[in-house]
Amino acid sequence: MIERLNHVAVAVPDLEEAMAVYRDRLGADVSPRAALPEHGVSVSFVTLANTTIELLEPLGEGSPILSFLEKNPRGGMHHLCYEVKDIEAAVQKLPTAGARVLGGVKIGAHGKPVVFVHPADFQGTLIELEQE
Ligand code: CO
Repeated sequence: MIERLNHVAVAVPDLEEAMAVYRDRLGADVSPRAALPEHGVSVSFVTLANTTIELLEPLGEGSPILSFLEKNPRGGMHHLCYEVKDIEAAVQKLPTAGARVLGGVKIGAHGKPVVFVHPADFQGTLIELEQE
C-alpha cells in the first residue's frame, strides 16, 4: 500500500526560528514562508534529496496543530506522509486492517488527495496518506 515517504511534518511555535535552524545550522534548502489559511498553518518546505521536511506553524484560532503545540510547546514531529497509488482503496482497506481513518479524503496542502490515520493505530505516530 504505502510507497515513498513524501514528507515529515514538524510543528513549530516559531517558523522563522525553525527555518533559520534548518538553513543556517544544517545548511538545508529552505523555502520562504507561505500562509495556507485553508489548512490553518503557515509552512516552509525543507527540500532534501530524498524527501521534504514541512515546518508547520499555527495560523488562526482553528489551526489543527494548536492542541499538539499545547502538549509539545517547543514543537515536535507531527506526522509522517506516505505516498499511495489509490487513496480510495487505502481508505476502504484500513478499517478492515484495524486502523481508524480520521475524517474523509480531502485535498491537502500540495493540491493532492490526502487522508489522516489515527496515531493510536500506528505506534503513536499520526500518518498522512497522499495519492500521487
Ligand atoms: Co502533511
